[in-house]
Amino acid sequence: MTLDRISRRSFMKASAAAALVSPAASLAAQEAGASPPSTVHGRLAYQEQTRARRLAWWQAARFGMFIHFGLYSVIGQQEWVMESEGIPIPQYELLAQHFKPRAGFAQEWVRLARRAGQKYMVLTTKHHEGYCLWDTKLTNFSAARTGPGRDLVREYVEAARAAGMRIGFYYSLMDWHHPDGMRCATDENARRRFVDYTHGLLRELMTNYGKIDILWYDVAQPLTPEQWEADRMNRMVFELQPEIIVNNRNGLDGDFSTPEHKIQADKRAWESCETMNLGWGYQQADNEWKSARRILKDLATCAQQGGNYLLNIGPEPDGTVPDESVRTLETVGRWLSVNGESIYDTQGGAALSFGNYTNFTRKGNTLYIHVYFWPSGTPAAQWLRFFQPPTVVAVGGLHASVLSARLLKTGHPVTFTQDELSLRITGLPEQPIDDPVTVIACECDQPPVVDHHSIRPRWPRYSVGLSS
Ligand code: GLC
Repeated sequence: MTLDRISRRSFMKASAAAALVSPAASLAAQEAGASPPSTVHGRLAYQEQTRARRLAWWQAARFGMFIHFGLYSVIGQQEWVMESEGIPIPQYELLAQHFKPRAGFAQEWVRLARRAGQKYMVLTTKHHEGYCLWDTKLTNFSAARTGPGRDLVREYVEAARAAGMRIGFYYSLMDWHHPDGMRCATDENARRRFVDYTHGLLRELMTNYGKIDILWYDVAQPLTPEQWEADRMNRMVFELQPEIIVNNRNGLDGDFSTPEHKIQADKRAWESCETMNLGWGYQQADNEWKSARRILKDLATCAQQGGNYLLNIGPEPDGTVPDESVRTLETVGRWLSVNGESIYDTQGGAALSFGNYTNFTRKGNTLYIHVYFWPSGTPAAQWLRFFQPPTVVAVGGLHASVLSARLLKTGHPVTFTQDELSLRITGLPEQPIDDPVTVIACECDQPPVVDHHSIRPRWPRYSVGLSS
């Protein structure tokens, strides 16, 4: 059943029938002394039934661009600056007069995302500072009415859509600027006003910009999901955007989990978000840049475990992306243009354990071995038959027989041996043939799984001979 084909009324009926954890039940549990739930497992029938279909494009895409852009970009000390440095609101508001995104800034981001091989983008339409980047009717604290005098969200949407890029909106529920943003926790009238404001802003975002692919909620403080009326919020979102996917940061499970600054597989869809330096928002003096190798390693680790990777840029206030981010993203994109088949559309579960210098992804019966530190020149090759003839890439505990192996970049076949402990790929050049990561593709007799832990039970290992 697609919402395109069903009427609004039948959607509402399906939603009303959805089995939602009742707010009353959960409040009763709290009153009975149980610890308050951090997440209410709200389940909308429509959302459950259509999830796999709605997620399909996103799971194939694997790699997206996160963009933190707002008034904080003018200061250049990250997006938490208002709160962490205690800047008074009337002073903070002055930043809007100096927030001047260049014409065409969004097209530049989109071009960069395409060059980087990213398939979707997620922009902070409103961060915790409360400044709306779009032309909202609900507050004057917006890019359209205070500052640039433009609808920056529309510029972003139009640029992304013109390039066939999938479109995501980040939206912070927490709001440091709105007068009810904090007192809503203790004052019921304020809560009513602020929840109506929040739902109203989301309604605008979900109504005025055509098809939106991702809603990326953030920080649900200071209210509980019941107080946010988060189930009603999600229901509205799906009513307006039936094909959208939503994350889990409005207190409900949503469609996917969002591990931050870490790669943590979940049993369901998940996306790891990460910065290129330390800050999300532009931070002038922050030079702690991650290398292209590190980023590709993270991307492949996500793909290995069946997850997505959302990599952040923090543009300067005129929209310029820091040079270091551009250079690294271009390197990543060049690599993906050759090795993309080992990332996009891969299925998770290629490895249950990790290699020391390798990642593993898979698609059907193909195993992709990502070698990010090339293992040549080990002195042990003099003494251990295992490492001869050098250079050897070895994988312990591969569950599948390899039928053929090749270097993904050139298609050149490589020789290998395999016994019940180990796959040894030999006949490799002394230097890696690709930079920063070389990929070896192995055709196997079944969907491959690497699990070196599984070879321990076959101890003592000395009873197993080397095939050479
Ligand atoms: C955290 C931070 C926020 C950032 C987000 C990205 O929630 O509060 O500043 O936007 O993570 O995941």
